[in-house]
Amino acid sequence: MTATSTSPEITIEFHESPVSDADRIKALETPGFGKIFTDHMVLARWTADKGWHDAKVTPRRPLELDPASAVLHYAQEIFEGMKAYKADDGRILLFRPEENARRFAQSAARMAMPAVPEELFLKAVEELVRVDKNWIPSGDASLYLRPFMFANEAFLGVRPAQEYIFCIIASPVGAYFKGGAKAVSLWVETTYTRAAAGGTGAAKCGGNYAASLVAQAEAAKKDCDQVVFLDAAEHRWVEELGGMNVFFVMNDGSVVTPPLGGTILPGITRASVIVLAKEKGLRVDERPYSFEEWQADAASGKLVEAFACGTAAVLAGIGLVRHAAGEFKVGDGQTGKLTTELRQQLVSLQKGVTNDERGWTRRVL
Ligand code: PLP
Ligand code: COI
Repeated sequence: MTATSTSPEITIEFHESPVSDADRIKALETPGFGKIFTDHMVLARWTADKGWHDAKVTPRRPLELDPASAVLHYAQEIFEGMKAYKADDGRILLFRPEENARRFAQSAARMAMPAVPEELFLKAVEELVRVDKNWIPSGDASLYLRPFMFANEAFLGVRPAQEYIFCIIASPVGAYFKGGAKAVSLWVETTYTRAAAGGTGAAKCGGNYAASLVAQAEAAKKDCDQVVFLDAAEHRWVEELGGMNVFFVMNDGSVVTPPLGGTILPGITRASVIVLAKEKGLRVDERPYSFEEWQADAASGKLVEAFACGTAAVLAGIGLVRHAAGEFKVGDGQTGKLTTELRQQLVSLQKGVTNDERGWTRRVL
């Protein structure tokens, strides 16, 4: 399905009673992750006859849905995760937002939804960031942006819906993990899988996350921060975490990460880390890596670091790995040197500290 209207006209309706300066400033002191929200949101509608229309930045409020709204029954829903950063000199920057727009369109195609034209996606993100600019924290925190789209036709037949809502909400966020920069622990899931060949693993659809929750809850029960999934066919190959991609650093300086094969999310942080690592002269192998190999490499000392990466988590060292038959440490159990370096390099680019030679940042203000 393609949109019939690509007009990026966006109306702006300002909130009449936004959160007071004092309350907002207080909320920004300890934002946590995804718990507080800005005053506004983006809303746009798609219908088969009109395409995308009525795009606006509007006061944030609950949405009213018909109980037969298709998303509530068949989960036709996709989302994105991106951040707006405040540089020390006050500039407001987005990091590779075109990649989020592109992935959103790819997720839409997989879920039989209309594409949001890249121009509309980017303009909507930028308008919301401009309107809610006072909500962008400084320092290590940032404004997490959550574009999402869902089927909103009141119809119970099983087919692609004829009506959709595109929405963007924004949430000031600090560190994703409670431990901050401390290395995280992983639970290796061998019963439940996240995605199979031909499924929706490469799409950022809500259903993938719903399907991951029992495994994530199991990880929490084992006192682990995140779950790591193995492939669905053999339960052998490392895929990714519930909400992050994964990298392994070897003692010869090479880096290994599972290949994109349709079952894992093509992370924008993953793609950026590959570029940064290659620019450092490191060899990056995008190849299948088994859990057996992981255990053997950790035991022999060949594996010196491992890290998880994604927009929410940035780069987080992996210190401990628990599984049904025991547990092992990666390196000395702390965040490794390369992980720290790559994280710093990425954050410096995102925050506009270092010169953006690759054209990865997009200035909004
Ligand atoms: N894998 C999954 C399952 C995710 O939810 C995310 C987060 O968006 C990622 C990987 C990392 O993607 P990105 O770096 O684009 O945020
Ligand atoms: C992100 O990093 O933006 C994500 O979407 C992952 C989140 C669901 C934890």
